[in-house]
Amino acid sequence: MKFFIDTAEIADIKELAATGLVDGVTTNPSLIAKSGRKIFEVLKEICDIVPGPISAEVTETAYDPIMREAGVLRKIASNITIKVPLTPDGLRACKTLSGEGTKVNVTLCFSPAQALLAAKAGASFISPFVGRLDDIGEDGMELVADIVQIYENYSYLKTEVLVASVRGPQHIITAAKLGAHVATMPAAVLRSLYHHPLTDKGLASFAADWAKTGQHIVELKQAAHA
Ligand code: E4P
Repeated sequence: MKFFIDTAEIADIKELAATGLVDGVTTNPSLIAKSGRKIFEVLKEICDIVPGPISAEVTETAYDPIMREAGVLRKIASNITIKVPLTPDGLRACKTLSGEGTKVNVTLCFSPAQALLAAKAGASFISPFVGRLDDIGEDGMELVADIVQIYENYSYLKTEVLVASVRGPQHIITAAKLGAHVATMPAAVLRSLYHHPLTDKGLASFAADWAKTGQHIVELKQAAHA
């Protein structure tokens, strides 16, 4: 399963990219606004840090203006993925852009029917927003299960299921159990995946027992070679 981070904060991206576990980044107009940065400047920096797909979202909603924005955004770097909304004009742009060899992430997906349309339009990624469905009392992961099942019925569909609007580690685990290809998550959720109280407890007891021996692995190794 690929891990993308859902942020435009350079400090978080640098820190998490250094773990070697980040396969891509997703941004949206709200995340760019939150960063307080200029869109081209921040996207270029992200593309230089993470070599995988970096989603840059269009802000226009009609076909021609979407295509004009996509033309500008995709020139930022070769790893830019154009993010378009799941609307008739967005999917028309998806079809054109994917036909030209540009990767497209179709965003704001809330139904299996929408996901089927995006795949037919040649999307590289479909982004079901699980958290926003949970927020209104629906089941976001049920949507992911439906999309995975539908896409599996048609092996020629190459669209990857990119689980978005993730709120916590349980979304990631359930997405992985369902076979979703990618999850994009806030930096805090990726950090939280490392933690288990028994890991901390075990590490503390190993350290305490080891300290009693008075040994140091590197020093012992150097002494053996002296
Ligand atoms: C994904 O590409 C979106 O930017 C993101 O996951 C939206 O998440 P939110 O519902 O927390 O805003």
